[in-house]
Amino acid sequence: MVVSELDVPVVGAPMAGGPSTPELAAAVSDAGGLGFLAGGMLDAAALQEQIAEVWARTERPFGVNLFVPATADTYAPRPRPLDGTARAMAVSAYRDRLAADAARLGAELAEAGPDDTDDWDRKVDLVIRERVPVVSFTFGLPSGDVIHEIQRSGTQVVVTVTDVEEARAAAGHDVDALCVQGPDAGGHRGTLDESKEPSGDDLLDLVSSVRSAVALPVVAAGGVATPERAARVRAAGADAVQIGTLLLLCPEAGTHLVHRRALTDPSFTDTAVTRAFSGRLARSLVNDFLRAHDGHAPAAYPEVNKVTRGLRRAAAAAEDPQWFALWAGTGWRRARPVPAAVVVRDLGAAS
Ligand SMILES: Cc1cc2nc3c(=O)[nH]c(=O)nc-3n(C[C@H](O)[C@H](O)[C@H](O)COP(=O)(O)O)c2cc1C
Repeated sequence: MVVSELDVPVVGAPMAGGPSTPELAAAVSDAGGLGFLAGGMLDAAALQEQIAEVWARTERPFGVNLFVPATADTYAPRPRPLDGTARAMAVSAYRDRLAADAARLGAELAEAGPDDTDDWDRKVDLVIRERVPVVSFTFGLPSGDVIHEIQRSGTQVVVTVTDVEEARAAAGHDVDALCVQGPDAGGHRGTLDESKEPSGDDLLDLVSSVRSAVALPVVAAGGVATPERAARVRAAGADAVQIGTLLLLCPEAGTHLVHRRALTDPSFTDTAVTRAFSGRLARSLVNDFLRAHDGHAPAAYPEVNKVTRGLRRAAAAAEDPQWFALWAGTGWRRARPVPAAVVVRDLGAAS
């Protein structure tokens, strides 16, 4: 199993929306960890180009992460708690709420439209065709058939889970390993059900309870920002730790300048988990957008994400961090602008 046989037990998290690049994935893998491409929100053609670039940069194994759309998810209840007309109306009401901000920033707010499949079928075909060494999923649990088909091409399959119940469900679909994500994680919480409030249990407790419940290798993610914490997480039973926020300032990352500056700006003093940006819970630095709209967005991903995208684009153009999604885990102050190999080796050193 790739994740339990790494030279350095560190996985570079997939980070959709810009931070993950082929250069970053290859740098993490070359340093002895496991680098990841983020396939979420990319079409299959763009992902194919990125995969080719990683193959050109490294001979080491790497992974590709995909978002599981509602149409391919076997875990969330059908119908969903917020569905059909009620869902469309809730998204539309949130869109109305943002209208004044949009006008002020000169931003266009898109219509939500129907469920988006994120080019799922073509991306699943792609990872099978390309024989990518590892594929991880977040936001849902694909069917056993899809998982088996991917495994038949020699690929190992990882599913992100946030509690024991989800870990058991993923194990029931014969996955090769679990990414257990704890509450301190930057970016989106990977709950299998978008409407669920994820467990607030500390990552150490989550890892040990998942380990006792399920006999699968575990990659542990969320707020791992020091070699000491990495060692403790591994002592609790994780085969490797997965880090996102710590890599955001690396030169190989594609992190937007507005995001980079905010991560080192002392006026940002906290992170919080909110649905305001995307309709799914995600941890960001606390900024004006989060303060203004937290608690008002419906649990409707990806529709809310689509509606708010125009605001983020306008904020990026104006270099205004107050209206941008500043994804960050609780350990954000430890992120440094050093090569990814340095971050991976430093973190792995104590493990
Ligand atoms: C900017 C950013 C983008 C992320 N995008 C993804 C993603 O596309 N897919 C995914 O599975 N996880 C994503 N995550 C979550 C990571 O996989 C991981 O759980 C998290 O980064 C771990 O916490 P840390 O940021 O404190 O290290 C993202 C995290 C960040 C910070």
